Amino acid sequence: MKENNLVNSHNEWDELEEIIVGSAQLARVPEKDKGMVAASIGGGYDYFDPNISEFFPEYILQETEEDIENFTSELKKLDIKVRRPEDISINNFSTPDWHCDSFFPYCPRDVLLTVGNSIIETPNLFRSRYFETIAYKETLIEFMQSGARWISAPKPRLLDHGYNMQDKAQLSLNNHEPVFDAANVIRAGRDLFYLVSDSGNRLGMQWLQNAVGHDYTVHELSPSIYSSVHIDSTLSFLRPGLLLANPARVNEDNIPDILKKWEIIYAPKMTEYSYSDIKPSSSKWLGMNLLMLSPTLAVVDKHQTELIKLLEKRGIDVLPTLLRHGRTLGGGFHCITLDVRRKSKLESYF
Ligand code: ARG
Repeated sequence: MKENNLVNSHNEWDELEEIIVGSAQLARVPEKDKGMVAASIGGGYDYFDPNISEFFPEYILQETEEDIENFTSELKKLDIKVRRPEDISINNFSTPDWHCDSFFPYCPRDVLLTVGNSIIETPNLFRSRYFETIAYKETLIEFMQSGARWISAPKPRLLDHGYNMQDKAQLSLNNHEPVFDAANVIRAGRDLFYLVSDSGNRLGMQWLQNAVGHDYTVHELSPSIYSSVHIDSTLSFLRPGLLLANPARVNEDNIPDILKKWEIIYAPKMTEYSYSDIKPSSSKWLGMNLLMLSPTLAVVDKHQTELIKLLEKRGIDVLPTLLRHGRTLGGGFHCITLDVRRKSKLESYF
């Protein structure tokens, strides 16, 4: 690695040095694109409350920015460098095949994947997220100039027949071309774990394996664990040898054998709360969507007192933090961040 390479993060827990934190300022409800409809059908819920059109109420955006400001000032106190998305105003766009409104850069975790010294732009499920990484363009150029390997997966066509809207027994995403959201992946050094689900198909997993090469093994997490969108409200790696699992989704039969080498602790009952009448876009399990700042320090939703107690018992200190509208906007602390650099090196943990 080049000495001053700004990108270096091999896992979910090593001591954090630099991070990107998303923004709700540009949050709008895009017209439902095919990918979003497919995910809603698969997940059995609406992605965004059908009663809101185009813009979220201003107070939601303001309160979220307030919460994010408080969160980032805690990070800065710990000497963690924080970057934010650039102000982009792409409202709608076309490809040769379709036309679409754009989503908003609240969850960098969904569109960018850090693997060691590489930063990968992923081929996302929602059409509305096709150009979302433009919000990080200047940052990505700077990373590249520092020595990072900056790559982008082939742009998928996302044609209508790529989505399955009929057969509920099948995933909502077909396997016609590589498609996956970065948040379908969690990292533990040489072993990456990829959830095959409505937001990640097997061709996507194959592409990722080929892109990261022989130093890594990409393991499949089966859709029987969670067939809907993203892995990070289902499994969290806390430190080498310890993982937190969602008791409603993960069990002895569906977890891959390699993960059984670690101790698995199950998340306790989640505290449900709401600060608005808007229907949430994520399940209550967003409460376990935590961010490790080091193997002994986690950022956890302040309301999740049982989970906080459990982590503390395991020797993990917690920064209890507020993100009042996380479920409404569809992202907790792991989703709204992308760890860019940790005091980290490539290792095997299994
Ligand atoms: N779909 C998950 C749930 O409802 C939430 C995942 C959010 N993750 C993210 N990276 N945006 O439990």
